[in-house]
Amino acid sequence: MCGIVGYIGTQTAKEILVSGLERLEYRGYDSAGVATISEGKLECVKAKGKLYNLREKLEHSISINDAQIGIGHTRWATHGKPEEHNAHPHLDSNLNVAVVQNGIIENYRELREELKSKGVEFSSETDTEVVPNLISQYLNDSNLSLLDAVQKTIARLEGGFAIAIIDANNPYELIVARQQAPITLGFGQGEFFCASDVTALLPYTRAVLTLENGEIARLTPLGVEIYTFAGKRVNKFPRTLDWNPGQVEKQGFRHYMLKEIHEQPGVVRSSLETYLNPNWHVSENPDFSPINLGLSSQLYENTDYIQIVACGTSWHASLIGKYLLEQLAGIPTTVDYASEYRYSPKPVIPKTLTIGVTQSGETADTIAALEMERARRSKLDSKFQAQLLAITNRPESTIGQICNHIINTQAGIEIGVAATKTFIAQVLGFYYLALDLAYHRKTLSNERISEIIEGLHHIPDSIEKTLETQDKAIEELAHNFTQETEDFIFIGRGINFPIALEGALKLKEISYIHAEAYPAGEMKHGPIALLDHKVPVVAVAMPGSVYEKVISNAQEAKARDARLIGVTSAMNSQEAAHTFNDLLTVPEVEELLSPILAVIPLQLLSYHIAAIKGLDVDQPRNLAKSVTVE
Ligand code: F6R
Repeated sequence: MCGIVGYIGTQTAKEILVSGLERLEYRGYDSAGVATISEGKLECVKAKGKLYNLREKLEHSISINDAQIGIGHTRWATHGKPEEHNAHPHLDSNLNVAVVQNGIIENYRELREELKSKGVEFSSETDTEVVPNLISQYLNDSNLSLLDAVQKTIARLEGGFAIAIIDANNPYELIVARQQAPITLGFGQGEFFCASDVTALLPYTRAVLTLENGEIARLTPLGVEIYTFAGKRVNKFPRTLDWNPGQVEKQGFRHYMLKEIHEQPGVVRSSLETYLNPNWHVSENPDFSPINLGLSSQLYENTDYIQIVACGTSWHASLIGKYLLEQLAGIPTTVDYASEYRYSPKPVIPKTLTIGVTQSGETADTIAALEMERARRSKLDSKFQAQLLAITNRPESTIGQICNHIINTQAGIEIGVAATKTFIAQVLGFYYLALDLAYHRKTLSNERISEIIEGLHHIPDSIEKTLETQDKAIEELAHNFTQETEDFIFIGRGINFPIALEGALKLKEISYIHAEAYPAGEMKHGPIALLDHKVPVVAVAMPGSVYEKVISNAQEAKARDARLIGVTSAMNSQEAAHTFNDLLTVPEVEELLSPILAVIPLQLLSYHIAAIKGLDVDQPRNLAKSVTVE
């Protein structure tokens, strides 16, 4: 939430800051601003709304053009409305110190009162504005260096934040600090960067270093120094990113979301190549697993119970995970919203594996739930100790660092705010984990494991086929729902109930149409009262154990005049055509693997409805890709 970028070096800062912000805009996009120092003078330009407003404003600002140091921010409002005066950077009342912040300063009210009593006047309603004013007080009253003044200020702040600071009186220094919110430093030739996410750094450098909580960095044109908040110098090496900038380009697609939907066959292929052992055969020696997760054998021995924490789409992937872990590996599994779990954790059970699922790796609630789990178990004896596993495409993220085991889902960077390829990749991560556990615990025969693996190998082609055959048809269908449709209902059962939830969430997020999902069998216990001819019902009716049940539940909806859309296998389409008004088909697939295909038409449906409505598909209102506040 909120994106920060900073630059110091030999080039003009303006373009680097703005293009960096463009790459971070998915983190928040209700206002933006940059501050630079040129010839000892601080300049700050801000604009409400999307970044193009800031770009346009900057074209008329001459002095900012020459600056070789600056900071920028794209905002997702927490304190204070998304108005220009609340946009970052925020300045001290002497207009010397500029600060951008991502996070929340929890004790800002008392700091504000204290500063007010000393004559400071505030021009925004934000929590951030106390920061430049505190720094300014320390600089002026105690004659401290900028680094020391920032350190003193940070000692006064409560909450989680990442901040970047420049000061007109110290024009060759950029200070960056981290406490719970992500910030990464980039190393170029005589130039240094900071950004909330490496995506902003990719065009300039691959050498990066992620600051840890409680660290502060001083960037000058000559180098980078890192200290703890207590002032102890820390020595570290940067690491090299192996991502290419093409991953964050649209590559001819109208939206990132559409590009990412179309990337899914490739994501699945690369994931299968990484995690399925090509040399495994049914009759193999039992120590040679069909899955290459690289998890320690201790983990397999020490897991009698699994608890999963996640939010949003990652929570839906986790529900599929629960089904797989219980049905294939026979391990009791619970799934909790991280935001709930952190305040009402489960009783402590021995031999528990706690899994955090996340595409950003920075979700504040998921971080807090995992940290809380580790802390409360650390006081107990060894069989209670926390075993934390992250399922994420961002192994370098905060959650990647917190967990002692990682499944890197190989999905790479996702820019569209609505998660698509990262969801599929997380779900695959659960197939691998469940199969690996099933293999080690002998809850499935090798023949059955081999059959499932064979099925997984067909998935990339089947996704390709779904995209080829359904994209246009779904676009046409979508036209029916862009004018008057206000509500949608999604139903599914068993392993495909989470797909109904995901279909509804995608639609809400990007098309702003109200949508709810129910287990199909629950409809008659209340929600059916909502149905009439104005409310389309999407039924995920994949052939398998609950197919007939879902069809019956769909018929009940049809009897209430609802327009029925079915997601089913092409194999069943003739028969299903009797039930459904519209059919979205995927290639034949066994029920256990069907969620990976069934979600594709639902992603396309929500995408096309939103695109036809002319909405901002990649950056829907009020949302952010990385939810770094509670
Ligand atoms: C929906 C979506 C969100 C995220 C949620 C958790 O399309 O992307 O619901 O799934 O905010 O985020 P992560 O996965 O980053 O923890």
